[in-house]
Amino acid sequence: MKKKNMAKTVLVTGGCGFIGANFVRLILETRQDWRVINLDKLTYAGNLHNLEDVSGHPNYRFVRGDICDQTLLDNLFSEEQIDTVVHFAAESHVDRSITGPAEFIQTNITGTFTLLEAAKKQWLDNGQKNEQCRFLHVSTDEVYGSLGATGFFTEQTSYDPRSPYSASKASSDHLVRAYFHTYGLPILITNCSNNYGPYQFPEKLIPLVLNNGMQGKELPVYGDGGNVRDWLYVQDHCEAIVQVVEQGRRGEAYNIGGHNEKNNLQVVELLCDMLDKKLGLLPSGKARRSLITFVKDRLGHDRRYAIDADKIDQELGWTPKYTFEQGIEKTVTWYLDNQEWMESVMDGSYQEYYTKMYGK
Ligand code: NAD
Ligand code: TYD
Repeated sequence: MKKKNMAKTVLVTGGCGFIGANFVRLILETRQDWRVINLDKLTYAGNLHNLEDVSGHPNYRFVRGDICDQTLLDNLFSEEQIDTVVHFAAESHVDRSITGPAEFIQTNITGTFTLLEAAKKQWLDNGQKNEQCRFLHVSTDEVYGSLGATGFFTEQTSYDPRSPYSASKASSDHLVRAYFHTYGLPILITNCSNNYGPYQFPEKLIPLVLNNGMQGKELPVYGDGGNVRDWLYVQDHCEAIVQVVEQGRRGEAYNIGGHNEKNNLQVVELLCDMLDKKLGLLPSGKARRSLITFVKDRLGHDRRYAIDADKIDQELGWTPKYTFEQGIEKTVTWYLDNQEWMESVMDGSYQEYYTKMYGK
């Protein structure tokens, strides 16, 4: 399709991951005049099945590649006349960042820098600059560190990252902001709380508990289970991102949260009860809560995250549409209805799909 018919040409990085895939699908469903170029390296977290149903959409193109590859990025920017970037691609799991931080530094910091350079070259140095250009960096509330029993993260909260993951995201946020102040690159940053929903890799708490709970395996709870997260349904996050791209003020950061604090034990117990109700008790006749196992705490485990999302509400009129009860019901139903997806992720066969589709 020709560029002139398109209101936006969006480079989505990491579109085969959890949030990216939900975002790409939302755009193709709701924004007929956006063309989407999905650039994804297909690491262990990238799964082509996540977008199988839209892979033939006329407004969609998939490119396998690394955001650290400057030549690839420069070519994509000029060939596709990219005017919008929504940057999801990252190493995203805190536990992996503790055991192997190098990839986090490479992708999250060097990768973001490389992408900023490509956007700067195309939009500022080569003069494509127009009112429409936007570079949105999708970031996390974890950059703000850990809260005590009270208080919330606002956009003014000082950065205080504690894990290699959050430190790498904080670093990339700083670089993105620096490109605004130094070069005038039209950036936006969103700092969002914990997401849950379809297509999340089962290393993260909710899909891990669902997967183990379906199979009657142990449910590991770190420490005393009292760590608090502010859970947001992924569709709400994606809608917030669309609003920030369309209406956000350049150079600004927006916190996105669910107004939904739960401690980990509460979440795990709720999931156990939902699975018992939908699947019946375990073959042993026991309830799934009996699978809960308290394990050694995560190193440097942040105690509590909670978002003050007033700014995005006041400025852009965004609030979450899904209550936790609605979102978690949709999520549990999705994982029960998509056990093949889970099996292909667990046995690694999802990674062969690229070879089948593209032959190399
Ligand atoms: P994910 O791990 O599910 O997906 C990451 C995607 O990025 C994968 O498809 C992977 O293949 C791709 N990728 C990784 N390295 C790449 C590289 N070098 N080049 C190109 N592609 C690469 O992550 P997610 O949970 O969907 O998170 C997406 C973004 O949102 C991340 O930037 C994360 O920091 C941020 N975020 C996540 C949450 C959450 O709760 N999951 C909350 C707030 C912010
Ligand atoms: P996670 O889903 O990894 O997200 P994040 O670390 O980015 O918040 O973890 C959510 C919370 O659940 C966090 O406090 C760690 C805890 N957790 C467990 O107790 N057991 C687990 O098996 C996992 C993966 C996480």
